[in-house]
Amino acid sequence: MSVSGNARIAGVVGWPIAHSLSPALHGFWIAGHQLDAAYVPLAVEPQNFARVIAGLQSAGLRGVNVTLPHKEAAFRLADELDEAAVATGAVNTLVFGSGKVRGLNTDVPGFLSSLADAGVNELAGRSATVLGAGGAARAIVYGLLGQGVSRVVLVNRSRDKAEALAAFFGERVQVRNWDDRDQCLSGCDVLVNTTSLGMTGQAALSLDMSKLSRSAVVADIVYRPLETPLLNQARQHGLRTVDGLGMLLHQARPGFAAWFGVEPQVTVALRAHLVSLLEGRG
Ligand code: ATR
Repeated sequence: MSVSGNARIAGVVGWPIAHSLSPALHGFWIAGHQLDAAYVPLAVEPQNFARVIAGLQSAGLRGVNVTLPHKEAAFRLADELDEAAVATGAVNTLVFGSGKVRGLNTDVPGFLSSLADAGVNELAGRSATVLGAGGAARAIVYGLLGQGVSRVVLVNRSRDKAEALAAFFGERVQVRNWDDRDQCLSGCDVLVNTTSLGMTGQAALSLDMSKLSRSAVVADIVYRPLETPLLNQARQHGLRTVDGLGMLLHQARPGFAAWFGVEPQVTVALRAHLVSLLEGRG
């Protein structure tokens, strides 16, 4: 679809950016809503980030998504932050307007929406186990606590990183050793992998699924492959699973709405389109 001289422009800033699915995702919505708009991939090296953002703002872009390795730099640069950005110290969506830059962390609601899509709505009083202690774990722990989970067991290869995260969030977050991860599954209602294990080219993550209750949900934020060894194992055990694509799709919604003025939907057709790209059929 062509764009006019009045087109609204947004994009995604990352380094590298070639494998980003965001242009396809936003492009699907732009086409579906027949908008006079464009969403472009922008490869920006870390040392150029602040300069590029200022330039994009001057050039009239509506805003950008921010991905690796710029999420902390985006947090520092924003003039205003939403609550999730403040809590996580990371921003994945910038909205430009009237000389100000607003920074949002939409990974948090994105993850919660992906759980809701799988029918996991009521988290109050539940117990969660989160594997990993990086930026993604911080967003997910914050999101789960906000939904009223009674306990998050945090398990990370480097225990000190888990300790630091637990200290930030307080007594509902407890740290266990990486080697004891199987033991952390009994009594767990929601298990989330935020480590890079299971990603294409990385070692698989394998756990003793028999320790989980039949009603437990297993989520993985990795989406390459879509069904990670962990999710495959969970499915074999008859457990509900949530793949990482749901989070990717849902985190994109607030930015699109802010930049283009239309509330986009995560539909079966959108998911199928992205799955076909992930599987090399696009
Ligand atoms: P992100 O910001 O996306 O969460 P990150 O900060 O690099 O990324 O975090 C990656 C997570 O995967 C970390 O928790 C890391 O564990 P360490 O803190 O010990 O580094 C975890 N991880 C990566 N490779 C791993 C492996 N082979 N075994 C166990 N955990 C691993």
